[in-house]
Amino acid sequence: MEKILITGATGNVGLSTLKLLETLNYPGVEVVAAVRDIERARKIEGICNCTFCHFEFDEPSTYDKALEGVTRIVLIRPNQVSDVSKHIFPFLAKAEKLGIKHIIFISIAGAERNRIFANHRTENHFKKLSIPSTILRPSLYMQNLLTLHRQDILMHDKINIPAGQGLVNYIDVRDVAEAIVAILFNPVHENQAYDITGPEPLDFYQIAKIFSGELGREIKYARPSTIRFVRQKLKDKKQLLYVVTLSLLYSAARNGKMNYANDVFRSITGHDPRTLADFIHEYREYWIRAGVEEKPENVRKGLSRRGI
Ligand SMILES: NC(=O)c1ccc[n+]([C@@H]2O[C@H](COP(=O)([O-])OP(=O)(O)OC[C@H]3O[C@@H](n4cnc5c(N)ncnc54)[C@H](OP(=O)(O)O)[C@@H]3O)[C@@H](O)[C@H]2O)c1
Repeated sequence: MEKILITGATGNVGLSTLKLLETLNYPGVEVVAAVRDIERARKIEGICNCTFCHFEFDEPSTYDKALEGVTRIVLIRPNQVSDVSKHIFPFLAKAEKLGIKHIIFISIAGAERNRIFANHRTENHFKKLSIPSTILRPSLYMQNLLTLHRQDILMHDKINIPAGQGLVNYIDVRDVAEAIVAILFNPVHENQAYDITGPEPLDFYQIAKIFSGELGREIKYARPSTIRFVRQKLKDKKQLLYVVTLSLLYSAARNGKMNYANDVFRSITGHDPRTLADFIHEYREYWIRAGVEEKPENVRKGLSRRGI
């Protein structure tokens, strides 16, 4: 019997992984969604066969119950949980004590070189643990275009990202989930670190062109400077940590550090990742103005309804 605990279970990657495991319905595998609000999580469509447990990284009293009988963990660190020494390492210490067989940690592209990232510190911490682990470093998520950048595209017909002429290779979180599931039960992936990307790097002029073709109106790449982007986001009352993280990621893109593709996803799953053009086509209605401005929380609910 295997019992898999998934943290960040209501977020981008966690929810996609839960849904995929539910579809595959492996015999002898119990899937546990570690969530902050069980009642809210129960209402999400497409995850009715998993078990829910109350779990908060910043509430150590929730660790023991969440880890009861668990054999494997998919560790997704929420962006808000940045003090990893205080809120991630103690959880990992408990997991180690309990003899957890394997942890898949979802990091981010470039984390191994960028000391400022909380995921960098977490990756390094795994070197000190005896738990077999796999570090997965996805490139940027396509779903950011439905969440972080949706309002600019929907309401202002622009992509407002400070990436200059840099290229990015977005990956769909459903593909990240597929890679996670493929890694979960294959010991060959233990103690490996993988960068996974979408199929091809694109710059934001190309991405704006795909949007324009799909939506039937011109979407422009605004190409703001980093300073202008930071000022705007802080004016919009976005959290400083969020703004700094985004700026660092897009600076990496501007400096050519996200301009790569590899066939790791294919070698893990046996097929190619989804393309950005297909993704934009599939979710085009989210960027079409229907006369009513949707609030971000409704977008999130909408995404859950659509099974993202
Ligand atoms: N965005 C990207 O392009 C990208 C690319 C590669 C890697 N990453 C990495 O992916 C990770 C984020 O994953 P994601 O985008 O799938 O998550 P997400 O959509 O931002 O969702 C965060 C999840 O964490 C939960 N959560 C928040 N605070 C919590 C706490 N204190 N204790 C327990 N759970 C908590 C949230 O639950 P509630 O429903 O209760 O809020 C939610 O399920 C980050 O480590 C980031 O570096 C991001």
